[in-house]
Amino acid sequence: MDQAVTVTVEDGVAVLTIQNPPVNALNAAVRTALVDAIDEANADPRTIAIVIIGDGRTFSAGADIDEFGKPFVSPWLPEVCNRVEASAKPVVAALHGTTLGGGFELALAAHYRIADPRARVGLPEVTLGILPGAGGTQRTPRLAGAAIALDMMLSGRPISADEAASAGLIDEISDGDVRAHAIAFAASLTEHARRPTGERRDGFADSIEYEQVIAAARQEFGRSPLIAQGKIIDCVEAALLLPFEGGLGFEESAFLDCLETDQSAALRHVFFAERRTAKIPELEGATPRPVELVGLVGREPMVVNLAALLLDAGLGVVLLESGATALADATGRVERVYDHLVSGGNVTAHDAAERLSRLTGVLQYDALSSVDMVIEATPEDMDIKKSVFGYLDGVLKPGAVLVTTTSCLDVNDLTQHISRPQDVLGLHFNGPGASAKLVEVVVGTTTAPDVVATGFALAKRLGKAPVRSGIADGLIGGAVMAASRHAADLLVEEGATPYQIDAAMRAWGFALGPYQALDAAGLDNELARRARMAHLWDPTAKVVQITDKLCELGRFGRKSGAGYYDYATQNSPGTENDEVMAVVALERQAKGIVPREVSQAEIQDRLLAAMANEGAGLLDRGIAHRPSDIDVAMIHGHGFPRARGGPMLSADLAGLLTVRNRLRDYAMDDVFWTPAPLFDELIKNGQGFDALNTV
Ligand code: CAA
Repeated sequence: MDQAVTVTVEDGVAVLTIQNPPVNALNAAVRTALVDAIDEANADPRTIAIVIIGDGRTFSAGADIDEFGKPFVSPWLPEVCNRVEASAKPVVAALHGTTLGGGFELALAAHYRIADPRARVGLPEVTLGILPGAGGTQRTPRLAGAAIALDMMLSGRPISADEAASAGLIDEISDGDVRAHAIAFAASLTEHARRPTGERRDGFADSIEYEQVIAAARQEFGRSPLIAQGKIIDCVEAALLLPFEGGLGFEESAFLDCLETDQSAALRHVFFAERRTAKIPELEGATPRPVELVGLVGREPMVVNLAALLLDAGLGVVLLESGATALADATGRVERVYDHLVSGGNVTAHDAAERLSRLTGVLQYDALSSVDMVIEATPEDMDIKKSVFGYLDGVLKPGAVLVTTTSCLDVNDLTQHISRPQDVLGLHFNGPGASAKLVEVVVGTTTAPDVVATGFALAKRLGKAPVRSGIADGLIGGAVMAASRHAADLLVEEGATPYQIDAAMRAWGFALGPYQALDAAGLDNELARRARMAHLWDPTAKVVQITDKLCELGRFGRKSGAGYYDYATQNSPGTENDEVMAVVALERQAKGIVPREVSQAEIQDRLLAAMANEGAGLLDRGIAHRPSDIDVAMIHGHGFPRARGGPMLSADLAGLLTVRNRLRDYAMDDVFWTPAPLFDELIKNGQGFDALNTV
């Protein structure tokens, strides 16, 4: 077996190289090897100092996240850090790449830190629902003070080597080879050069200011739903108030508290879920086709947003319009996107001009003959899309990828009348804006694996979160949201108000309640979706027509100034409305429903059960590849709170049996709630959805 840490002695310096590709995570083997190597170097009379460095692309990305939630294996990382700090011979950490979390904490325990100028360091544990638990909350403020320590730990954002050096977290920045620099530096040290961080008080110079920073952070993060943030503030305060050993003990207990929370389980799940989405059979061994020039055909605002997204990612764009006026309008809109960015200081005028120089407007399909890919974003009408694909088939070069953005039409139907069905792929960008990260990569029965790989590669290049989806109306995200909306409608009929439902889901962590989201998407679009799906609807299932009635009143959502809420202007927050409640009352009356009290907990339980049940159905039907893909789609496309891990993980955390039993209870009254068969299959085997999150 390869050694987790190799040791060489150079110029009297023991060089300990961590070797755990790809990111030198500090797993049990590395930790054991580090402690052994520190002990051996201390015992070796040939060495006067020690350098710790990482092999490959980075010093270390921190603790091995995969080990959390499993029994601890000794030595713990905090012990390793303490051993490094206690080393009788001075220890220098040589940093390159991204030194994160426990990796940076290990470096902070060394007596000196030398960094490559491109290195970045950070304490991103908060993004995993935990805190820097290997001494980071105690050592960082000792060196850099409370403000910088808190900023790094509460945001999780890495900082540059320069910033870290100005903050006192890095001692020297190398101007050449960081390894050679660190060895030369270490070789110049004497035994008396030991400088344990735990004994330093540089960051405590002004204790009044330190406490003020703590108080301000408590004010700012006091209402944060992230448990770890409050605990980080407590730990940084403890660093000032307690002796170093006491502070480490305080940190340890806070770390263990965080580790046991559902939030941490959820955030760690999302970390791996996001990286798992690209592990699908089609991508095994497939090489993406090169894409540098992309054609766009379709309607605004989609094509305008797509054009800006592609230009920002360094691609060339050929925008096709049917007439000169429409073309001038569309290219003018793209220009205005950049005017806006320049005036807001987000892009320099020079960069904006460079990006716009890669945009070409054309009026004929022939002009698309050299593009590597065409994305069509025409209205959701199969005849229009077929005719566009027919034209494209006639002019595109061999191997060009044909992308449709549809979320509701069958990609397979689109391929039937063209000569290159293997080149067709769906890429559904969630929402017209560039802000939502989700891109559902829709794979048809004839789509070639390298075309799927091309879709994933493009989405990544655009900074998006690609998720594979089979063909289903609304794809994964739309289908799950539709189920939760229907569950909400049923509750409104039974006695809840739409506003109560929205408040309950916001309280649970959603960015928007389902009716706020529906107002943004358009109530008429929801009716169109229901009409498309009507043939699949169980005739015995309940139907709620409140949205239909609101549309009859001209309340189509935000775009018409009124939907479930009233909107004074396009951007104003909605206000509750009596007309909506009158419609609700009439619907209840017509069905003879006597409204009942509906609690916040029931709203949350029902909507989440509906989402997990729909997700299970998508898995049963092979639309979603694995449960964690559904979670990623919901988090990046539909405002599902990241710290809750997505609907499938939430069901696991609530207990699959509990959720299945809830569904069964609800189903006594309405077939909509019938649990998907997957629930019983998993429960029978003592498993949760997570058991299906394999690669
Ligand atoms: N533990 C285990 N696996 C890790 C890991 C970690 N800390 N960091 C990355 N990996 C794995 C990823 O899962 C991925 O595995 P697969 O190839 O099997 O999917 C692989 O390493 C490469 O990672 P990325 O795909 O993310 O590579 P990248 O180049 O895009 O990004 C990175 C590299 C910036 C280091 C990024 O991986 C990252 O942010 N990692 C997490 C860093 C982090 O949060 N560290 C804190 C850990 S918790 C801790 O240290 C607690 C403590 O105080 C004791």
